[in-house]
Amino acid sequence: MSHPRSSTASNASTAVVGLQWGDEGKGKVVDLLAADHDAVVRFNGGANAGHSVVVKGERFALHLIPSGILHPGKLAVIGNGVVVDPEKLLEELDTLGAKGVDTTGLRVSSRAHLVMPYHKAEDAIREEMLASGGAPIGTTRRGIGPSYADKIQRGEAIRAGDLLRPDLLRAKVEHACEFKTRVLRALSSDTPAFDARSILEKMSRAGARLGPAIVDTTELLHRLMDEGKRLLFEGANALLLDVDHGTYPFVTSSSTGSAGIGVGAGVPLTRVGSIIGVMKAYCSRVGAGPMPTELLDETGNTIRTRGREFGTTTGRPRRIGWLDLVAVRYAARVNGITSIAVTLLDVLSGFENLSVCTAYEVDGERTRVFPPDGHDLSRVKPVLTTLPGFAGDLSSARTLSDLPRQARAYLEFVAEYVGVPISFVSVGPDRAQSIVV
Ligand code: IMP
Repeated sequence: MSHPRSSTASNASTAVVGLQWGDEGKGKVVDLLAADHDAVVRFNGGANAGHSVVVKGERFALHLIPSGILHPGKLAVIGNGVVVDPEKLLEELDTLGAKGVDTTGLRVSSRAHLVMPYHKAEDAIREEMLASGGAPIGTTRRGIGPSYADKIQRGEAIRAGDLLRPDLLRAKVEHACEFKTRVLRALSSDTPAFDARSILEKMSRAGARLGPAIVDTTELLHRLMDEGKRLLFEGANALLLDVDHGTYPFVTSSSTGSAGIGVGAGVPLTRVGSIIGVMKAYCSRVGAGPMPTELLDETGNTIRTRGREFGTTTGRPRRIGWLDLVAVRYAARVNGITSIAVTLLDVLSGFENLSVCTAYEVDGERTRVFPPDGHDLSRVKPVLTTLPGFAGDLSSARTLSDLPRQARAYLEFVAEYVGVPISFVSVGPDRAQSIVV
């Protein structure tokens, strides 16, 4: 995909961010763009994210490692804003290695915080307590929230750089294990004691393997930019799951939008030339929380099956809904996107009519404002506009003119409503099944 002409050498980097509730197919867009960039950089989230990329018919599921790793010669950078589960990272490296993928381009920020076994235990205990009160968040239980909470809290936090300082690491792990055992046992008496020795053994193994990759990535990224290299920022999760701007409290614990790049990679947005917002041609959501256009009928089931809408990370069936343009427009504005990538358009083929949500009705009033609280969003009624459907196999379309007229009209409706042009359309899972506008 070529870079918009408006970019200059000082802002030649690109960001790819999600405009819905995750799983928009950002991995595929990043994979396509990676060829034109020198490093692919993750700046938020952890192993809660799941990017699946299909290359020559083979599916790769990546959770922590940026999908740029599949491009030989590119750097794949895990920025400081990511929470890293060292065991998961090693597993992922092993899986990629077994498939013959060269992983020597991986770099991990020494400032990135680690997800430890007690974070996953805490995530589960908290979810179960919330579930017993009938209101779980529906987290991935990957320890994301507790690890970010410790980062902010500071006292028990452990960073990737600590893996390279054995004495400090030992002291930190011993303190954290004692602290977490006491706290979590108070919450759930059958919590086993967290054994500092066995955790330290695992961390030492992780440190030995990851050591050469753990660096000051902020310095690295600025050096690359000074050399005229181009960075590609790969957002994980999506804006509606952003801890500040999403459907709080049904969100993840990081800054998932473009603003997260400054926080989670140390690169200011002024150095990012284009921000591509990725959206599905419909909506999906995993976990709890409001979703105004949710389809609980056969149409939803059909889209779920055709779109293979089962979580990459947890395998959970995803909730499906018609395209919610109120939500997408909001996400586009907060992210400051410069173009839209629409994915899974092929999945909508075969419906006589398609609905899109163009306003919310709240207490009898119509609005295009996205409510600031998840609980308020659960009270809105979607106002649906019906658009003509399209038919036929879209997967071999390579230009917009290869698409049925009604499919083009659907895309035009989206671009017009959001007020941002479409730069990319995906019509199938493979790299080649793409239209670059
Ligand atoms: P957590 O990130 O595991 O704390 O989960 C918080 C919420 O974000 C839950 O509803 C998850 O299902 C959702 N979530 C987190 N990451 C992703 C993602 O990459 N795709 C879709 N949903 C996600």
